[in-house]
Amino acid sequence: MLKQLWLWLGRLLGKLLLLLLAIGLGGWGIGAAYYSWKFSGPVPTKEQIPPDEAALTQSIIEDAVRIVEQHRDNTRVLRDAHAKAHGCVRAEVTVLPDLDSDLRHGVFSEPGKTWQAWMRLSNGNAYPQFDRARDARGMAIKLMDVPGEKLISNTAHSTEQDFVMFNHPAFFVRDVAEYKSNFAAQADGKKVLAFFPSWNPRSWELRHLVIALKTLAPAPESPVATTYNSIAPFKLGPHNIKYRVIPSPENCPSYTLPEANTDMPNFLRSALYRQLSLDRVPACFTLQIQRQNPSYHMPIEDPSIEWDESISPYETVANIQLPAQDFDSSEQNLFCDNLSFNPWHALPEHRPIGGINRLRKTVYEAVSVYRHERNRENASE
Ligand code: HEM
Repeated sequence: MLKQLWLWLGRLLGKLLLLLLAIGLGGWGIGAAYYSWKFSGPVPTKEQIPPDEAALTQSIIEDAVRIVEQHRDNTRVLRDAHAKAHGCVRAEVTVLPDLDSDLRHGVFSEPGKTWQAWMRLSNGNAYPQFDRARDARGMAIKLMDVPGEKLISNTAHSTEQDFVMFNHPAFFVRDVAEYKSNFAAQADGKKVLAFFPSWNPRSWELRHLVIALKTLAPAPESPVATTYNSIAPFKLGPHNIKYRVIPSPENCPSYTLPEANTDMPNFLRSALYRQLSLDRVPACFTLQIQRQNPSYHMPIEDPSIEWDESISPYETVANIQLPAQDFDSSEQNLFCDNLSFNPWHALPEHRPIGGINRLRKTVYEAVSVYRHERNRENASE
């Protein structure tokens, strides 16, 4: 009797497992079919600006300034994002000597030319935390003494060309409207719920939640050991492109970083200091671009979509070297804090495009001006 009951239970469990497997496979198949239908080309090659974007942008600025004030560190007002720096280092960006003539635009016009630059390496969080916390890692590069009229006519930045990236290839929202609702929910302490704005399942952003969770990744062993992506698209002369900066240790003397104690709060700064300042070994990267192929789903207005590398591979346009150097002094750290990076500090040939980039234009400027003014006031008190 007992044996029969066990056999019956076993059969039932087996059938239940098979049913679950069938439901899982069916769901996966439907999901895959839905996404390949939803995310298929062709896509526009020009920007499409929604009518309510300017109003939404204004209210995002107000939220951002509130967050900056919440996270004041002692008396200094920090950045609203990427508040913690691992250091600002001097960099040399050299345009590929045999660069394809089709890609010679803006700062890449002259093959072989070397630009002097500043590079700020950071954690993504709005306030400084231990480096071992899961987070995005940022890289911002500022080329100096770049001639020509810029997109923002601000004399303080009139000779600069900036590239601003972090180390995940996709953004966790598609546009300004979603950014507004997600940011507001996050500011109210809702983390996961920010991706489920209502009871209506059609408003749920599961794919974006997965991107956000993947973006908050464990730290690399060093800030020079990870790939940084523009995520949002840009112009490069007539082309629509994304760009990225990828480590190229093969272009530098070989170096093995000694094992670090990742329980130390600032081990990423220590790794940079160890390589560049103590061991005096330079670090190398390459700067690469990926062209939009509008026959496929490579949209301009949705940076949550990665452009498929098998359709449009990245092409190297420049080499970057961080020479051996001393960078970790209090003067240089303060200088670093006071720098402002903005993708709109740019020549028209490198114009940022797409909704998230249009939003960044206004927000970066507003937050940067706000924190600089507050820091000046605090210094004179
Ligand atoms: C493609 C997507 C984005 C990337 C790759 C990115 C990357 C970065 C990086 C690396 C920094 C630090 C720059 C530095 O070292 O000074 C930064 C700063 C900042 N980001 Fe973003 N970001 C993105 C989107 C956004 C969006 C959508 C907003 C808000 C609307 C935003 C707001 C800010 C602000 C306010 C700062 C601080 C600006 C300052 O005070 O100087 N970012 N971002």
